Amino acid sequence: MEPTKSDQPHKNMSRRNFLKASGAALVLLAGGGLYRAVDQGVFSTARGPAYVPWNVDVAFEPDLAEKDPVKLVQYAILAANAHNTQPWLFRVQDNRIELFADLSRNIGAMDPFYREMNISLGCAIENLCLAAKAFGYEPKVQLHEGEFDRIKVADITLSDRIPEVSPLFRMMTKRHTHRGAYDTKQPIPEQLLRDISLLSRDNPNADLVWHADDQSKKHVGALIIQATEAIIQDSVQAHDSHRWYRHTREDIHRFKDGTTLDATGNPAFIRALGKLLPISEASSNDYWLSMTKDTHIPTAAAFGSIVVSARSRTQLLEAGRLWQRVHLWATSKGLALHPLNQANERQDREQQLGLEPVFGSALQRLAGRGEHVFLFRIGYTREQAIPSPRRAAEEVQLQ
Ligand SMILES: Cc1cc2nc3c(=O)[nH]c(=O)nc-3n(C[C@H](O)[C@H](O)[C@H](O)COP(=O)(O)O)c2cc1C
Repeated sequence: MEPTKSDQPHKNMSRRNFLKASGAALVLLAGGGLYRAVDQGVFSTARGPAYVPWNVDVAFEPDLAEKDPVKLVQYAILAANAHNTQPWLFRVQDNRIELFADLSRNIGAMDPFYREMNISLGCAIENLCLAAKAFGYEPKVQLHEGEFDRIKVADITLSDRIPEVSPLFRMMTKRHTHRGAYDTKQPIPEQLLRDISLLSRDNPNADLVWHADDQSKKHVGALIIQATEAIIQDSVQAHDSHRWYRHTREDIHRFKDGTTLDATGNPAFIRALGKLLPISEASSNDYWLSMTKDTHIPTAAAFGSIVVSARSRTQLLEAGRLWQRVHLWATSKGLALHPLNQANERQDREQQLGLEPVFGSALQRLAGRGEHVFLFRIGYTREQAIPSPRRAAEEVQLQ
């Protein structure tokens, strides 16, 4: 697809708009805005208590690592997770870690059947297992089936082994969701997509499906935009999503969760300006839709789906393990990744409300024989993604 001017709105920001925005920033700064800028963290991006968990060591030599199962949780919590809800609780014993779903962290109408929560927990299991091997433990994972009545989702039993620090482990602190513009002139070689698909080879239930040719990309892109519009028109769903947006610096460091302006992938100047202004739910929705239409969809080099054979809890956990692996591996190759799950979120909402399965049917067609549970875009970009907040390992452990 040919890039258009609107593909990269901030890179192509016109001189007039730039001057307007600069003028607005100067007026704000002059009018007592400097105090607000400091207070809002304009000058301390990704620093402070909510970002401390990212400082764990991923560079150590295997033999020098000090063995302690509690440490594994410090790596598990860096996993990708829906809306940065971090829906996990861990109980650590000498040779076993139990993982529980924290149902209070569900995203309501965005995730009525806990699809995204279970995928998120799967991402944490994958990080935990990679960390276990790095510290000299062989992890044996037992996933538990069950609906909302059973909140324990997995037991990870640890036995001793020779430490193995994998390249994926080394990527844990570099992996971040990248929501910025991708380079429309740099396609992804087909072989690279095939290599990524190999990451699912040990997983009989979760698979990757690529949408990389122009026609498929157009189709998937249009579906994501329609789903975004449908979420925004559904006030309950839109509200449940927005509830996890953290705008003030105080909220970011108090809650240490949720989505932030810094994680939108915008350039520093735009983010700084956004932090100085109040953001309503309506303006945040407008912004989300325009980013989806003008940046996320047109700059995607390809889209990918995760498909499972049946949508059970254990298969969703496996889908999460696969996503985390894919994201870590892609990070090691300099690729940027960004989940775009609006169509699946609408599919679940349709089912919850008994609506005609418009998005459900469309995703079924995309998935082929399996069940579609996760959609993302992939591409190259020179910009670094900024970390999102995390609650510390101690805050998510049961005694
Ligand atoms: C199951 C799941 C669904 C997600 N869906 C979306 C999505 O639709 N849009 C989006 O921008 N990010 C999505 N994400 C990315 C999360 O928002 C992100 O992982 C989280 O905010 C933590 O940030 P990090 O990945 O940079 O550590 C999803 C992640 C997971 C695991």
